[in-house]
Amino acid sequence: MPRTEAPDEDAALVDLAGVAVRYGSARQRQVTALDGVDLRIRAGEFVVLVGPSGCGKTSLLRVVAGFERPSSGTALVRGGAPRPGAGAGVVFQQPRLFPWRTVGGNLGFALARHGVPRAERAGRIAELLERVGLAGTAGRRTWELSGGQQQRVALARALAGEPELLLMDEPFAALDALTRERLQEEVRALAGRLGTTVLFVTHSAEEAVLLGSRVVVMAAGPGRVVAELPVDLDRGPGTDVPALRGSAEFARLRGRLTELVRLPGAAV
Ligand SMILES: Nc1ncnc2c1ncn2[C@@H]1O[C@H](COP(=O)(O)OP(=O)(O)OP(=O)(O)O)[C@@H](O)[C@H]1O
Ligand SMILES: [Mg+2]
Repeated sequence: MPRTEAPDEDAALVDLAGVAVRYGSARQRQVTALDGVDLRIRAGEFVVLVGPSGCGKTSLLRVVAGFERPSSGTALVRGGAPRPGAGAGVVFQQPRLFPWRTVGGNLGFALARHGVPRAERAGRIAELLERVGLAGTAGRRTWELSGGQQQRVALARALAGEPELLLMDEPFAALDALTRERLQEEVRALAGRLGTTVLFVTHSAEEAVLLGSRVVVMAAGPGRVVAELPVDLDRGPGTDVPALRGSAEFARLRGRLTELVRLPGAAV
């Protein structure tokens, strides 16, 4: 693409260089969750991480979120050390909502943390719920909602701070197929509309190809990046998703990705 904007247009929003994460003290047996991970993510990219269980996907996300400091190497988000709550919205596998608060109360809490004045919160809550297809549910108790609805509230909560970076760790793994498909489409459309940069973890090659503009494949022992697969599918507004899923190019990419995940150490 030609460079038409600011000179730092190509600067990475997320820049991991030689990142290692080791758990346990030096005296104990250490677990090397990640080793020598280089990953640069430009603003607006939708990067999907795939790889076998235990290869360090969650550890990598925690480093980018600022929950975990690299044992060695450097992690930068917008040129600075990542700090929890600073700029990234995080969605975990489980919704992790406050059960003693209503849906609106959960979102209001997040908005307050992001410094939104009390008088503006009700309006913002309504807007956020509208975005995730849950308009009118602000007064409901979270435990009255289905798992998919709770996960949408968690997504709305992550969007409350208008993050430029959204980190999602297998957010739809526990949902039924239909709800998962709806939420996949919503996340893709939302990210496109808001220009949000997304780092998304999944075990599903199908989900990775459907959502990602680039898929990063990891392998275990120690956790590292072994391959990358660019996904050049047209998924603008109005895309016929079922037709896309049924297309030959989609099948080719999904097949290639499945191969890459099965062959640890494989290069593209
Ligand atoms: N807090 C911790 N203390 C010690 N070891 C840990 C800790 N968290 C993760 N590990 C280890 O680090 C390695 C990577 O774990 P991580 O959770 O990042 O993998 P993952 O790719 O997200 O796996 P999954 O797909 O099962 O979620 C594993 O061997 C795990 O046992
Ligand atoms: Mg994990």
